[in-house]
Amino acid sequence: MNKLNVGLIGFGTVGTGVVRLLQENSTLIRKKTGLKIHLKKVMDRDITAPRDVKIDPQILTTNVDDVVLNPEIDVVIELIGGCEAAKDYILSALKNKKHVVTANKALLAEYGEDILKTASENNVQFRYEGSVGAGVPIINTLKEGLVANNIRLIFGIINGTTNYILTKMSEERREFGEALQEAKRKGFAEADPRLDIEGIDAVHKLAILCTLAFGTKVDVKDIYKEGISSLTLQDIEHAKEFGYAIKLLAIGKETDGEIEVRVHPTMIPLTHPLASVRYEYNAIYIQGDAVGEIMLYGKGAGQMPAASAIVSDIIELAMRVDRSLVRGGSLFWGGKRIKKMEEIESRYYLRFPIIDRPGIIGKIATILGDYQINITSVKASLVAGERDLGNVEILTHKAREKSVIAALNEINPLPIMRGKSVLIRIEDNSE
Ligand code: HSE
Repeated sequence: MNKLNVGLIGFGTVGTGVVRLLQENSTLIRKKTGLKIHLKKVMDRDITAPRDVKIDPQILTTNVDDVVLNPEIDVVIELIGGCEAAKDYILSALKNKKHVVTANKALLAEYGEDILKTASENNVQFRYEGSVGAGVPIINTLKEGLVANNIRLIFGIINGTTNYILTKMSEERREFGEALQEAKRKGFAEADPRLDIEGIDAVHKLAILCTLAFGTKVDVKDIYKEGISSLTLQDIEHAKEFGYAIKLLAIGKETDGEIEVRVHPTMIPLTHPLASVRYEYNAIYIQGDAVGEIMLYGKGAGQMPAASAIVSDIIELAMRVDRSLVRGGSLFWGGKRIKKMEEIESRYYLRFPIIDRPGIIGKIATILGDYQINITSVKASLVAGERDLGNVEILTHKAREKSVIAALNEINPLPIMRGKSVLIRIEDNSE
C-alpha cells in the first residue's frame, strides 16, 4: 500500500490543525497523490486537555520514544517549539532513519546546519516549509521555483502577530496590549509573545530566508533587530499624517557581494502594496536576476495555514523518497463539470447610454427587476455639454449572468438608448 506512517510530537494549536487536516482531507490527498498518510502516534506532555478534534485515545502518548524510536513510524512531525528538547527529539528521529517535518524557526535559525547535516548523513529528508510564512510556500519557492536565479533582495512582512497588532492599532485605534491579547486568543502569537513583539521571531525567519536566498550562513546575531513594543498609537497616527504606514519589515539585501540583514519598524508609503497587507497576513518580495520581482502573500500565522505547510511537506517528502508511494494519484482527481459562462453569478456594473427623458431609470430598473436583478446603487448624469444625452450607471447585487444578458438584450433596442449598454463584472467578495 502507498502508505506513510507519521508520528506527531506536540498536540497544541498547530498539532491539532495537522490532525484535523489529515482527517478532513485524507481522501482528497489520496486522490491527488495516491498517498495515504496514517497518523500512528501523537505525543504531548498533556494528553488529557480537550482539543477540538476527535482522536483515538490509543494513539496518544506522553513518551517521546513512542514516536522517535517507533520502528513503524516513517515521518516525525515536530511541533513543540522551543530549541533544546525539540533539537534532541529531531536529532534522535533522524538518527533513527525517520524523515522529519517541522515548523520550528527558532530551532532552524540556531541549529539548522547541524540538523541538515544529520539528515543527510542518515539519508533522510528534513523539511521546514511551515517555519516561515505558515501557509505561504516561501521555502519551496526559494529552493525550487527560483533556484535558477541570483537573488539580490528579499523583504517583507514575516510576522503575523505584529502585523495583526499594527493593523488593529492603525485601523481601529486599539491599544497595543489589547491587540496583542487578541492575537494570542486567535492562536497567532508564540507561546512567549515577546518573541513576536520584540522582532525575534522575524529575525529567526529572516535568518532562514537569507541563508537560502544568498547561499551564505546568516546567523541570528548578524541581524539587526528592533521590535514594535515601543510603538504608540501616536506614532502610527503621525506616520499616517505624512502618508505612511508603519510595518515591521524584515529586509535582506545583497550589494557588491555584501549582505545587509535587519528587522525593524519601517515607514512605507500608504500607496505601497505592503501597506495594504493587513492582520495576520504576510507578504514577501523577492528580486531575482532572471525572474525580476515577485511577491508571495497569504496567511502567515494561524492553525490551519501552518497545518497546510506541514502536510504538504509530508507529501513532498514522500514524492522524493519513493515515487511508488505516490503512484495512483491523478491530475484529474476532481472530475468536476465546468460551468457555462451563462451559469455563473457575479456582481455587475452596468452603464446605459441614454437619451434623457422622464421615467428612464424606472424603465431600466423595472426590466432588471423582472429578471431578478437586484440593484445596489444608481447614478444618472448628463454627458458634458449636452442637454439630453446622459448615462445611467447601475451596480447590482450578485445576479445570474444569463439573466443580466437577457435583461440587456431587452433594454438595448429601446428607443431611449443611444448606444449599446456596457457590462463590467465586479469581484469584491460581497453579495
Ligand atoms: N507567531 C508567529 C507569527 C506564528 O505571528 O508570525 C507563525 O510563524
